[in-house]
Amino acid sequence: MPDIVHEPLARAESLAAIPLPGAAELDGAIARALARIDRALPEFIDRFPAPSSEGLVYPAIGNIEWTNGFWTGMLWLAWELTGEARYCDAAKLQVRSFVERADKEINVAHHDMGFLYTPSACASWRLTGNVDAQRAGIAAARLLLKRYDPKARVIQAWGDLDDPAQAGRMIIDCNLNLPLLYWASEQTGDLDYRDAAEEHLTQAARYLVRPDASTFHTFHMDTLTGAPLYGTTHQGYSDDSCWARGQAWGIYGFALGFAHSGREDLVRLSASLANYYLNRLPDDLICYWDLIFTAGEEPRDTSAAAIAACGLLELIRHLPASDPARDLYARAAWGMIRQIDRHHLAPLEGSNGLLADGVYHMPNKVGVGECCIWGDYFYLEALVRMRRIWRAYW
Ligand code: GLY
Repeated sequence: MPDIVHEPLARAESLAAIPLPGAAELDGAIARALARIDRALPEFIDRFPAPSSEGLVYPAIGNIEWTNGFWTGMLWLAWELTGEARYCDAAKLQVRSFVERADKEINVAHHDMGFLYTPSACASWRLTGNVDAQRAGIAAARLLLKRYDPKARVIQAWGDLDDPAQAGRMIIDCNLNLPLLYWASEQTGDLDYRDAAEEHLTQAARYLVRPDASTFHTFHMDTLTGAPLYGTTHQGYSDDSCWARGQAWGIYGFALGFAHSGREDLVRLSASLANYYLNRLPDDLICYWDLIFTAGEEPRDTSAAAIAACGLLELIRHLPASDPARDLYARAAWGMIRQIDRHHLAPLEGSNGLLADGVYHMPNKVGVGECCIWGDYFYLEALVRMRRIWRAYW
């Protein structure tokens, strides 16, 4: 892996001053999150929230998007937190639609099989022993593995495999799809899944991460020669800026990469990305939608903040106890989550979402200042991680 700058934390003193949460404070935040889930639940049992809301209201959709797994995952989290049957019952019904989607291969020509199946079907198998869900998860991993290009050694993110514009194009978000491949190797004993994940991680670390520890959103590889070509953005401000959510996917995904592979260089990489991210936050710790903005009126992205918080909490698990950054990362994670809890929750009346002020796709002007269903999921996951001992779905 090339040398990556590891910036010192610029705001160490102010992070150190953030108090860590007690159980009562976390329980209050969890209760406010669950109240919003309860409000949405009757509407989303055989239907799902769309990727982002419109006027803070998610339209209802079928199981057709890359994002359906997040709502089901929230229900599993809610069930783990409370033991209340209504969450488990709804999640079980939804898992049937993931089984059907895998069987019929509905809208599966993309790499988001991990986002779809890890928090839904794989969680179902782990938590309830549902063998149909296990089978669907393995089928989803098989679809993902088909997207691995052995010459470029990356998983193609988008489009048909014969689309020359998309061949060899990887994206930083894919880091969160890789745990599905590790899981499939564990379930089946077939190491091809794991090997593809490890090759992809190596290429992502080498090419999606820039020397200053910022990230490209997407990177193009030559599938004829395997040579690296160039980085571009899809949802960021510009090709050479750093899309905030991409950086958050990187922090979390490389930390998870270590959890699955044991490759220590990935812990350091995750920490370098984390410091780059933390050093570009405004004082309230909620990032702008692209880290090129550090002040002013550009929209924030609470969904990126929630992912980054989970990434920091995963990273902490893998740093030595003697590393002073652990404490600062824990305080930073809580600082972000507390800020969302206090200032960015969607209202109980007039919304069916959890987090306001997310951004889905700024260049296309979709979901700007809205709830984003992955933001809702990772916010709840962060609270679960802080409140109890939890075995990650990823
Ligand atoms: N993975 C797509 C996104 O973060 O918008």
